[in-house]
Amino acid sequence: MGTKLASNFLGTNLTNLVRNTPLVRLSRFKGLPEGIALCAKLEKFNPGGSVKDRPVVWMIEEAIRSGHLTPGKTILDATSGNTGIAYAWVGALLGFPVLLAVPKSASLERKKLLEIYGARVIATDPLEGSDGAIRKAREIYEAAPDKYFYADQYGNPANWRAHYESTGPEIWEQTRGEVTHFVAGLGTSGSFTGVGRFLKKKNPDIRLVSVQPDSPLHGLEGLKHMESSIVPGIYDPALADENVFVSTEQAQSMVLRLAREEGVLAGPSSGAAWAAALQLASRLRENGRKALVVALFPDGGERYLSERFLENLSGAKT
Ligand SMILES: Cc1ncc(COP(=O)(O)O)c(C=O)c1O
Repeated sequence: MGTKLASNFLGTNLTNLVRNTPLVRLSRFKGLPEGIALCAKLEKFNPGGSVKDRPVVWMIEEAIRSGHLTPGKTILDATSGNTGIAYAWVGALLGFPVLLAVPKSASLERKKLLEIYGARVIATDPLEGSDGAIRKAREIYEAAPDKYFYADQYGNPANWRAHYESTGPEIWEQTRGEVTHFVAGLGTSGSFTGVGRFLKKKNPDIRLVSVQPDSPLHGLEGLKHMESSIVPGIYDPALADENVFVSTEQAQSMVLRLAREEGVLAGPSSGAAWAAALQLASRLRENGRKALVVALFPDGGERYLSERFLENLSGAKT
């Protein structure tokens, strides 16, 4: 009977669980303007805990299909952490070694997770941020191109296509086509570009709001201050209807407020998207508009527990 059960059990590959994350309406937050529905797409519900599971599964599947990733090759890329975690678990599942260039400043939780999944990490100068990691990954690839599949999340079109084919359609279906605004932070820009292009195709009146840190030196892991960074090859500056700049402190205070007022434990880049969504909502309210705003929450706060802004919270005011 045991054998019969085992052979009848279809099971699923973990990569099939990437996508279909929940969209929740956040309605308890203090000061929310009336008439505007604000929703969060909680990407931490992907198997690797972040939005980056999507582009990684798309990039790896595409590379296997096209013959760029073959047995014996190592998956190589630069990452601020979440993409690395996605490469690490997908690599472990499919039997490919993973080598990552990661800024030393990446959170302790991320570095620990990479180690647990068995990925090899090269730490790069924290002052050079994600650009230092990109330069390192390119250098490693150029020294031995036959050894690696350099996924290049910043220039690989499968990154934004993952969101065009999954995140965008999910948001469209979950809001029954009623979404009016989409807000997301820019890192590689894959999520903003893919979702944005899909939503604009469905309804050109949907407004797209991109979010960036307000200064080159910031603590918003995963986000890029474009003006002072290596601009990702897949970034399309013409796509956003509006660009909003958020400070690290603003985003971090939103992390605490989201946890305490909505029960949502989100990471700082989600806090930044939420701060931008709130600003947008109050402007829309002033103009007497009704709206359904969707903000992308790339990961959960669990990944930042060791960070200073979450220390000594007993008396913290939000
Ligand atoms: C925590 C976090 N937020 C936001 C982003 C930005 O997403 P994207 O690369 O799709 O622009 C990333 C990307 O790594 C991330 O890790």
